[in-house]
Amino acid sequence: MKKGMLLFLLVALTALRVQAGDGMWLPLLLKQLNEAEMKGLGMKMSAEDIYSVNKNSLKDAIVSFGGGCTGEVISGKGLVLTNHHCGESRIQSHSTLSKNYYADGFWAKSLAEELPNQGLFVTFIVRMEDVTKTVLENVEEEMPENLRQGNIERNIALLRNSAQRETWQEISVRPFFGGNQYFLFVTETYRDVRFVGAPPASIGSFGKDTDNWVWPRHTGDFSLFRIYADRNNRPAEYSPDNVPFQPRHFLPISLDGVEEGDFTLVFGFPGATNAYLPAVALQQTIEIVNPARIAVRDRTLGVYDKAMRADRQIRLQYVSKQARLANAWKKWMGEMQGLEAAGAVAKKREYEAEFQRRVMAHPEWKWRYGNVLAELEARYKDLAVYLQSNEYATEIGSRNIELFQLSNTLSGYVNVLENNGVEALKGRSDNLLKYLEGFYKDYRPEIDRQVFAELMALYMSKVQADLMPGIAIEQATEYGKDYNLWAAELYTGSMLNRGDLALQMVRVKPEDFISAVQKDPAYQLARAIVEVNAEKLAKPVGRIQQEINRLQRLYMEAQMTVFTEKRFFPDANSTLRVSYGQVSGSEPRDGIRYQPVTYLDGVMEKYKPGDYEFDVPAKLVQLYKNRDFGPYAAANGKMPVNFTGSNHTTGGNSGSPAIDAHGNLIGLNFDRQWEGTMSDLFYDPAICRNIMVDIRYVLFLVDKLGGAKHLIEEMKLVHPKSGK
Ligand code: ARG
Ligand code: GLU
Repeated sequence: MKKGMLLFLLVALTALRVQAGDGMWLPLLLKQLNEAEMKGLGMKMSAEDIYSVNKNSLKDAIVSFGGGCTGEVISGKGLVLTNHHCGESRIQSHSTLSKNYYADGFWAKSLAEELPNQGLFVTFIVRMEDVTKTVLENVEEEMPENLRQGNIERNIALLRNSAQRETWQEISVRPFFGGNQYFLFVTETYRDVRFVGAPPASIGSFGKDTDNWVWPRHTGDFSLFRIYADRNNRPAEYSPDNVPFQPRHFLPISLDGVEEGDFTLVFGFPGATNAYLPAVALQQTIEIVNPARIAVRDRTLGVYDKAMRADRQIRLQYVSKQARLANAWKKWMGEMQGLEAAGAVAKKREYEAEFQRRVMAHPEWKWRYGNVLAELEARYKDLAVYLQSNEYATEIGSRNIELFQLSNTLSGYVNVLENNGVEALKGRSDNLLKYLEGFYKDYRPEIDRQVFAELMALYMSKVQADLMPGIAIEQATEYGKDYNLWAAELYTGSMLNRGDLALQMVRVKPEDFISAVQKDPAYQLARAIVEVNAEKLAKPVGRIQQEINRLQRLYMEAQMTVFTEKRFFPDANSTLRVSYGQVSGSEPRDGIRYQPVTYLDGVMEKYKPGDYEFDVPAKLVQLYKNRDFGPYAAANGKMPVNFTGSNHTTGGNSGSPAIDAHGNLIGLNFDRQWEGTMSDLFYDPAICRNIMVDIRYVLFLVDKLGGAKHLIEEMKLVHPKSGK
């Protein structure tokens, strides 16, 4: 009996050790599921200090930044820290060649100099609540999916109307574990968020695409914004009368630095993971999905690269678009390689075999879950028929050719004119004008034309002919597959390539502009492709996907029922999560040991004067030569730059704070290392590492490089290790 107990404890402990690092956990369940393990890893706080509805806690300092990133409040005056790449499109849009904040950096010297950003918002989580029972009321096991979904939506609508909230707060309800659980969120969204500062892009995105997703890394990937509120500290639209927001909590900043083995916690809004898919789904990712997307972006990025290297103006106009396309493009490559290196498909197959063994040995499970894997397999096989065409057609039709993207947006206005008439269109002409001004500011027809030529060649060869619109086939034939000629004539003939004319028409008579758009040859081609994609691809794929979702929900429930020894975290879904682990290097391949910390010395090793990716400002070189690091150097006298940890993160965790055992800020999450980029689908604790900027590098750049000491003075600097 005693022996048995001991054995059980041993097994449980090793299981825990292996699991450390794996998971993005719900803040309100930490006490139950994670607190003990976190303390074992060195945490000195309680779960209540991290998330509480009764008192101020760390969560009150965390915001979803602009919908796709995370930020954290670091002063009593609403100062927000996030990544440079999260603020990039804003920084770029405030920049021109003569006043280039993007290239030269920007530091507002006073509140008056902080720059407003139309459309930018940050969202706080006030509280969250398990509402599974209410949402699944009247939802029967055997209901068809659309009926089930209808009932769920009705229950959610009722909940949203009845849940307690203040007038300025919002309510949302989101599915977890594939729809087995639901949580309600009460949130507060602030819409006056101003740009405060950023280092030059050569520091903020040092290493660009070459270093992206790669360790060792040397990037100062941060920028600063400030939240403004009305006189009552409540959310308000932009107004010059707004005042700096006073947070319930802001993160103190530790100057004591990190060492391997230190506890770390990453708090933020991870976007999407798929940790519980069947092997067949991973196989399709490796064989079909990622290769298709990569092939399309290879071509787009090839065109951009040449143009951007040749022309400064183009570089500024395309930098943000390029970074967005390149970021996922490179991740998909790493993900494929990582899945293959880890033998992920084979390991999932083993897991499935074990699952099936357990299910078949248990009569009730056998009845309920016995076929779920076989059915999933069959539905993924159905999907495979469309998959290649679908990936190429959506990537080309909606995400790479700017003229197509413009057409997709304009089609909304065409609908307004057709369905609601001229007055309705006029009512929206301000929005239309703003959108077009933004679009044309950074649009170069001669670049998009080359992208079009490259991608239509790919489209014609990779998409099944019966899944294309006739007009595309006719035009391709007419030009004898001379894609450059096709592109040249289409782009010269399209009024959409004449931004000045378009803007002028919208200002004078928006209805004339929209009528002309409807007759435009480029618009018509774009619409034909998008409509055929919707009808012949999205529809059947959607039908199959709905079946897959139903089966995946059952498979999720089954895994949680059958593997009682495993602890499950819900896949990321852009809701607030806690990941935790330790500062940690890794041994990604035989004979290679990655140190967990990099220094400014490494920046200087990579430094290539005049290079598009590896140049740095002369002032940084000077500070380095003079060892002028202020109070921010590490104990060894060097300037720390980045560090890695065993925290499970994904896209959306950009800008998330890295927090120490006591609740102080020690770093800023911004990336993962190459060998572990498959972690969205298959997490391996031995080689999956997140990459963070050392907070001391941030402070050094603000103070010594930017000369913005007034910002440092707003912050609360602490010494938790030395107790000073
Ligand atoms: N890979 C990081 C992320 O997923 C950083 C991206 C920004 N840097 C870049 N070179 N695009 O967002
Ligand atoms: N850079 C990513 C982002 O934009 C975060 C890093 C990751 O994907 O792990 O969200």
